[in-house]
Amino acid sequence: MAKNILVAVFSASGVTKQVGEEIARISGGDFFQIVPKAPYTADDLNWMNKRSRSSVEMNDPSARPEIANRVADMAAYDTVIVGFPIWWGVAPRIIETFLESYDFSGKTILPFCTSGGSGVGRSDTELHKNVRGNVNWEKGIQMNRPDRAVIQKWLETVR
Ligand SMILES: Cc1cc2nc3c(=O)[nH]c(=O)nc-3n(C[C@H](O)[C@H](O)[C@H](O)COP(=O)(O)O)c2cc1C
Repeated sequence: MAKNILVAVFSASGVTKQVGEEIARISGGDFFQIVPKAPYTADDLNWMNKRSRSSVEMNDPSARPEIANRVADMAAYDTVIVGFPIWWGVAPRIIETFLESYDFSGKTILPFCTSGGSGVGRSDTELHKNVRGNVNWEKGIQMNRPDRAVIQKWLETVR
């Protein structure tokens, strides 16, 4: 593939990471894991508890959990594939932290999610709203246990 691709994922329990690594292998892109400054514990992820960290963050559209690491040279990439688990129907707030931390002008952004069954839903448009600059935003898709052919076909979007 001629384009320089970055696959950046946030993954609380490893599912999205695995899919992202596969996408990076197939696309020849670089892989970057978005690491939260404060890691999410099992208690943090408890969606049955309204006071858990994830519930509190998802109830607050302005929550921006801090990220511990940074993409060394974002300018080097034409295409950024952003992967995340669906939390309460949308992307975890930390994805907004990530998207607000760089200038993506002139780049293509291709979101994907994993979930317990939900589709990409509103996450796509909600995220797009917060991205600065002139970005070619491709429609996001759900990638629950995708096979190679599905990933390859999807990647044709950015070829
Ligand atoms: C706080 C929280 C909220 C979730 N909300 C949803 C949801 O609304 N719909 C859904 O299908 N799955 C939901 N899930 C399930 C995750 O999207 C799914 O397990 C995902 O693949 C986890 O990816 P990860 O291992 O990369 O973190 C939720 C999980 C958590 C922890």
